[in-house]
Amino acid sequence: MTAPPVQLDNFSVRFGEFQALDRVTLEVPQGAFVAILGPNGAGKSTLLKALLGIASGILRDAPTSVSGSVKVFGNTPQNVKAGWVGYVPQVKSFDRSFPALSLEVVVSGLRRSWPFIVTLQERKKAEAMLEQVGALQLANRRLGRLSGGELQRVYLARSLIREPKLLLLDEPATGVDAVGEADLYRHLETYQRQSGATVMMITHDWEAAQHHASAVLLINRRVIEYGLPADVMCPNCLAQAFGHVGHSHGLVSGRR
Ligand SMILES: Nc1ncnc2c1ncn2[C@@H]1O[C@H](COP(=O)(O)OP(=O)(O)OP(=O)(O)O)[C@@H](O)[C@H]1O
Ligand SMILES: [Mg+2]
Repeated sequence: MTAPPVQLDNFSVRFGEFQALDRVTLEVPQGAFVAILGPNGAGKSTLLKALLGIASGILRDAPTSVSGSVKVFGNTPQNVKAGWVGYVPQVKSFDRSFPALSLEVVVSGLRRSWPFIVTLQERKKAEAMLEQVGALQLANRRLGRLSGGELQRVYLARSLIREPKLLLLDEPATGVDAVGEADLYRHLETYQRQSGATVMMITHDWEAAQHHASAVLLINRRVIEYGLPADVMCPNCLAQAFGHVGHSHGLVSGRR
């Protein structure tokens, strides 16, 4: 039997005095599309980084203390097979004068290092991936000249190029217009259908979560609720997560 893509057991992260994640226990089954919702500072990005092994000290922003366990396909995040996990980070800030082409960014997902020389085979693969997300025309455009939505597509292509079994997306629709957002979900759904991959996506778009996710994780340092969108997104659960329910969202339990 294959281990589930994600298993967290009593997982906590503390940055100094600040508890970013508090005893999170969670299991995500293969093929799920989990929308992660919660207020700013709720530990959402920290959770995805933990799945990448960043919270355990691989990168610079190592937290002060981590306890509990994180398993990705039954392994510690550091020992997951290369290419099994794809990631689109939240903040894609970079020096806009940096002379990179979209294609090179996509190829960097294949190599995990900067491709100073792109082989013909890599170029073909990257172009196919850009085409899949409707962005082939961006291949030879300078990254610094792309719009926010165009940039998101390039990063999505980068995250998909190794055909990950687990795709982690941190607010991928931020800065994307309505058509671009609909496209994003279409690409994700197609990818999931074809590959059977599991998707975990942080979003602030509650409507989109209700429509596209198979499960919703409501989190505010600790897990508030985790289950079917219609069950989780009840006013009471949202009030617990956010402290209040914004009237503008018009959220009513079961509304689709
Ligand atoms: N490397 C770090 N060092 C110190 N504190 C950190 C670090 N990374 C995150 N934090 C803190 O942990 C808390 C959770 O951060 P996180 O980025 O996970 O929140 P988030 O839910 O993704 O929020 P947002 O919706 O604003 O993106 C925040 O208060 C943040 O300041
Ligand atoms: Mg975040």
